[in-house]
Amino acid sequence: MDAADVMSDLSEVLYTADEIAERISEVAAQIDEDYEGREVLMVGVLNGAVMVMSDLQRAMTSHVQMDWMAVSSYGSGTQSSGVVRILKDLNTELEGRHVIVVEDIIDTGLTLSYLMSNLASRRPASLEIMTMFSKPEAAEMDVEVKYVGFEIPNQFVVGYGLDYAGRYRNMRDLGILAPHVYA
Ligand code: PRP
Repeated sequence: MDAADVMSDLSEVLYTADEIAERISEVAAQIDEDYEGREVLMVGVLNGAVMVMSDLQRAMTSHVQMDWMAVSSYGSGTQSSGVVRILKDLNTELEGRHVIVVEDIIDTGLTLSYLMSNLASRRPASLEIMTMFSKPEAAEMDVEVKYVGFEIPNQFVVGYGLDYAGRYRNMRDLGILAPHVYA
């Protein structure tokens, strides 16, 4: 799906599929360079990170592995509570591995702040974060992020893995959802 297919649901297209692909190539090249000689294990957080993981790994020139976690934050509504329940844990032992957690978006930072301390306790050789999008204005927790695709304004965004009520994840572009859709 392209933004053009759902244009009346969007108030703005923030990044086109081409712009996202170009940025992914840059980040992939940076990771290839930074980890030369060390094989990376990328840990994706379902479901949103599926698109970025898939594109990032294919843009890399080195061998890389992947594993997945599924988490759900306790609490109701749209506000993240910061308490995270692991619904699906990794299949891989992290001890001694070079790990990069891959996310579609960091909003408040609460999910990753919990996850990072959880993963760090498994004694990886190194542990870093790559997120496609970050909302600096929404940050409540200070999370150290090594690789950021784009910093975006504090708006309700959809596409490239990000959903509203399960929809729009498969849109290639990143757009701001028009208020009439969720009002
Ligand atoms: C999104 C995103 C992050 C989290 C970021 O996941 O993928 O995991 O929210 O928010 P935070 O920084 O405020 O904690 P979501 O819970 O919407 O699940 P999804 O990936 O299945 O869409």
